Amino acid sequence: MNFHKARILPAVFAIVALLFAGSAASAKTFKMAIGDAQGGTQWALAEKFSELFTEKTGGKHKVSLFPNGQLGSEQDTINDAAMGTLDFSLLAVNNITPFSPTVGVLTLPYVILGLDDAVTLTHGEVGKELVENTIRDAGVRIIGWAYSGFRVLTNSKKPVATLDDLKGLIIRVPKNEIMIATYQAWGCNPTPMAWSETFTALQQKVVDGQDNPFITVSAMKFYEVQKYITTIRYIFSLEPLVISEAVFQDLKPELQKAVLDAGQEATLYSEQYLKDSEAAIIKDLEAKGMEISAPADDEKEWIEAATSAVWPKYYDSIGGKDKFDSIMKVLGR
Ligand code: MLT
Repeated sequence: MNFHKARILPAVFAIVALLFAGSAASAKTFKMAIGDAQGGTQWALAEKFSELFTEKTGGKHKVSLFPNGQLGSEQDTINDAAMGTLDFSLLAVNNITPFSPTVGVLTLPYVILGLDDAVTLTHGEVGKELVENTIRDAGVRIIGWAYSGFRVLTNSKKPVATLDDLKGLIIRVPKNEIMIATYQAWGCNPTPMAWSETFTALQQKVVDGQDNPFITVSAMKFYEVQKYITTIRYIFSLEPLVISEAVFQDLKPELQKAVLDAGQEATLYSEQYLKDSEAAIIKDLEAKGMEISAPADDEKEWIEAATSAVWPKYYDSIGGKDKFDSIMKVLGR
């Protein structure tokens, strides 16, 4: 070996070794907490996101999924993501509102009247503003949405059609002020409880009922502990996928882009997933013995009681009456 080769080759090896060491060190498996069990819209979005993200990073980065509250209650996982000790959390929108009150507009009763409204709000200017507000207030960035359908009321005791039927039932609600106020407007004194404790509370009859979309009722196997479903339509459930803002800011620009693109594509997938799966899930719940009925009189008394008492009470927290009106205008109302 001549003098030059002897000096240059070790330097080349050192550089190549450094490059490999660098790429191995930066390959990462991110952690995602998921509130629901496998099989629902949260799981479908999470799997799609994880697949897309890995694909967009050339197989280098992965996302490990932890369903069914394994990493803590939905509110715990938002705290963990805010502190940067958890990468991703996928949860119901109602459990993010306590940390970012303007998001509450998405849980005001009878504002979102179907999938089209949900898509309009999450894809458009309103959605962009809520993303910014959530970064500012809660330290997490919404990068995708699962669409889960209307939250229907389930209980183990009796068919419910009127507000009178509802009286006396003990209903679990998320720790969400707007939803608590809605049940109060319906003449009920609901029990606020973490999502991760809900199945056991229903099973042990600590509470008689709860509300969540058909798909969630199925994924969580609530048919094992609940008999009756009333198809109220007060909240169309949205499930944001969030990344810790601290983690996001630490990513190189190309990885940030992979996160955002995978989130957008997974959101489109979720919309189609709901359209394709909800009808079959309803049939399956009936086959499993659940009795499904509609609220009396086109839900009029439920709508009137909730909107008259709850909307005015929460104008301020969602950004004022003008903000509310502008959102309704976006929805063509
Ligand atoms: C809740 O009721 O707390 C949520 O809707 C649960 C969820 O599906 O994440």
